[in-house]
Amino acid sequence: MNEKMNRMEFLKSLGLKGASLLAVYCAASGLSSCVNESMDPTTTGGTTGNQLSLDLTSSTYSKLNTVGNYVIVSGIVIARISTTAFAAVTQVCSHEGQRKVVYNAGEFYCPAHGARFDTAGKGLNSTGSRGLKTYVTSLQGTTLLVTL
Ligand code: FES
Repeated sequence: MNEKMNRMEFLKSLGLKGASLLAVYCAASGLSSCVNESMDPTTTGGTTGNQLSLDLTSSTYSKLNTVGNYVIVSGIVIARISTTAFAAVTQVCSHEGQRKVVYNAGEFYCPAHGARFDTAGKGLNSTGSRGLKTYVTSLQGTTLLVTL
């Protein structure tokens, strides 16, 4: 056990909890070490750090519970591609940069000139040959996380 943990255990033994413990701990160890040692990180939805957090029980995103549907959040097209999987790509088409990419019939599609992309962002025709930037998705309970 390292020195920091020993100090934390010592402060806990004094009966301090939660915010007060964190405050004391931070004061004792210097502010620079507080950022990554928050004891109770809470995610309230929206954008947190470098992730999008979508609450699939909210009316805004609940359509993602149905295969074939998609939403666009912060310039990212997020689609429900199967009962167990999602796919997320940039809305900006790699053909001429138009912000028009949508999800349709199992693939991503840009109506400007017909570029087609598979769910992994790979081009399916010559117009879409440069592919699309993809983002990693992860379902945590009823919250879908998209790593930016
Ligand atoms: S800009 Fe998307 S197909 Fe041309």
